[in-house]
Amino acid sequence: MLTEGKKFIIPHKGKIKKEDRQKLKGHKSAILWFTGLSGSGKSTLAHAVEEKLFEMGVHTYVLDGDNVRRGINKDLGFSEEDRKENIRRIGEISKLFVDAGIIVLSAFISPYRRDREFVRNLVEKDEFIEIYVKCPLEVCETRDVKGLYKKAREGLIKNFTGIDDPYEEPENPEIVVETDKEPLEESVEKIIGYLRKKGYLE
Ligand code: PPS
Repeated sequence: MLTEGKKFIIPHKGKIKKEDRQKLKGHKSAILWFTGLSGSGKSTLAHAVEEKLFEMGVHTYVLDGDNVRRGINKDLGFSEEDRKENIRRIGEISKLFVDAGIIVLSAFISPYRRDREFVRNLVEKDEFIEIYVKCPLEVCETRDVKGLYKKAREGLIKNFTGIDDPYEEPENPEIVVETDKEPLEESVEKIIGYLRKKGYLE
């Protein structure tokens, strides 16, 4: 039924294009995709980068568990299928932000390589910047900010990433930050430096 209906969806081509919106804002738009274990520091880093960009007059938005898993994706859990659907929807939303001329900072575990590649392929080549927020499991587990690792070890949470569910490390990320080795400010500078060097902020 759903596929049948698709035949009659004819996109309306507006006069204002992504490039026009980017020109108005004075910078390019892209997805900064933060991937890493729970407790690796994805959200903290994404918000710190957003603050810096905001100060520079760049139009941004952070997508993370707080505003996505409690809202549009509140029907999804943590099975492989649900994580796939979680990332698919977030990818599509991120793409809309890019079209709107915004730098969107999407911070999700996104444990499966193929799901991250799916998002990469939704947008133009230079519009997806994968940032591996690298931190050893032992360190994330010691931090245990939300107390979830302890629960997972006790068997109270099943399919917890890194404990009894996989995390596939990025093979070729554009940026790697090591949150157990470098201070937050250094990771932020690494990302801002990349955006400057590659001409996103002009
Ligand atoms: S995913 O894998 O990308 O779909 O996950 P994501 O949407 O980023 O959600 C991860 C946050 O949900 C909490 N949580 C779990 N994480 C991993 N595995 C299981 N089973 C799980 N259950 C709940 C956890 O707090 C994650 O938050 P972060 O910010 O990553 O610590």
